[in-house]
Amino acid sequence: MGNWGSKTAKSVAFRHIGEKRNNRAPFAFSALPQYVDQPGDGIGSRGLARPSTFSGNARGTMKKTILLLVLFLIAIVPARSLDNGLARTPPMGWNSWNKFGCNVSEKLIREIADAMVASGMKDAGYQYIVIDDCWQTSRDNQGNIIPDPQRFPSGMKALADYVHSKGLKFGLYSDAGTGTCQDRPGGRGYEFQDARQYAAWGVDYLKYDWCNHSTQEVKSSYTIMRDALKASGRPIVFSLCEWGVEEPWKWAADVGNLWRTTGDITDCWDCTGQYGLGVLQILDLQVNLWEYAGPGHWNDPDMLEVGNPGLSIEESRAHFSLWCMLAAPLMAGNDLRSMSPEIREILTNKEVIAVNQDPLGHQAQRARDYGATQVWRKDLSGNSAAYLLLNRGDAPKEIPLYLGEAKQVRDLWKHQDVALEGGFLRANVPGHSAVMVKVVGGE
Ligand code: GLA
Repeated sequence: MGNWGSKTAKSVAFRHIGEKRNNRAPFAFSALPQYVDQPGDGIGSRGLARPSTFSGNARGTMKKTILLLVLFLIAIVPARSLDNGLARTPPMGWNSWNKFGCNVSEKLIREIADAMVASGMKDAGYQYIVIDDCWQTSRDNQGNIIPDPQRFPSGMKALADYVHSKGLKFGLYSDAGTGTCQDRPGGRGYEFQDARQYAAWGVDYLKYDWCNHSTQEVKSSYTIMRDALKASGRPIVFSLCEWGVEEPWKWAADVGNLWRTTGDITDCWDCTGQYGLGVLQILDLQVNLWEYAGPGHWNDPDMLEVGNPGLSIEESRAHFSLWCMLAAPLMAGNDLRSMSPEIREILTNKEVIAVNQDPLGHQAQRARDYGATQVWRKDLSGNSAAYLLLNRGDAPKEIPLYLGEAKQVRDLWKHQDVALEGGFLRANVPGHSAVMVKVVGGE
């Protein structure tokens, strides 16, 4: 994360979000099986059920009633859903904020687009290049949004064309309130005009923040922009950024393609600091959200800090593994022009990315929580699952996991199959790191 003063004050305000969310009553996990590390009782052989409360005839009657109700609602309610066909798997790309803050320019964006291709990130699936806050300075007397003429002298259309010429897609940031978080002009009252402008420039992705919203109602504010984007006629991924304050996972699936679930991330493993939340703090806020994610609508635990100075290589690898397990959008937030080979290897690990991009679109559930260590599990298509063995603490730990019925267990970082010992995967996991495997069969 860079040193830009104005981030400080706002990020302090975010701290309460984490606290509020931590205090929420836990739900749903009572419906999950109890896990025991014993042969025949392993999570590998059972999976994590989505909670179900009905059975037998009651379920049949209930199904019919629900079907009739759905048909009735389809008949009377005008179609008002997002339905833009985009982000069927979590979006992948790069965003300027985590590394560059307000220090954005067309020169930077062109160089990042070049680096996206040269580094192999494009080949690994990264697509969107998104300019976050501070590209805009004012509105003209017609109300048109004006990019910073010093930093973007060629204008946004030329920049979008350049990004497109590399086979990539182009994104911008704005805000549902009257001003952005850095007090640049927001979208409030200009939604349709802005959406038309974005479409004319060739924008493919819009991140929409929630600063300066005064008394605005959240869902209707975002819905106006959703409708404006739709009316623009251009397919534009719509990324909601209201920090999880109003539990967007409960109402945003027909408004946006993704929604932030927390305050801002910072490049720190375990901290609640002046600048935002660490990787573990954000992770803990995702535990109960798995049932809300799916193709076209994702929980967004914020952009990646992989490769930024506050995380070690091991921490960056674990952070990336976790975000892949969570079916999180993979928006890199480092300087792609100068990343080390180790960081490039993390961001382009195709086997790990395949877990994130699995078409089933399930978000991982925390299967076991031993405190310092945890096991996370994500269902994958093809009778497979991914498991992540996480060591949150400082000391190395052995994390045993029974996978006796598995046909194949593959270590996704070592790129090799793993032999089980008496049906157990026995991973020695260093502190602040994770082992990630894909398990085929055994469901
Ligand atoms: C908020 C968002 C960040 C970033 C900044 C820009 O803090 O949560 O991701 O977009 O605004 O000012």
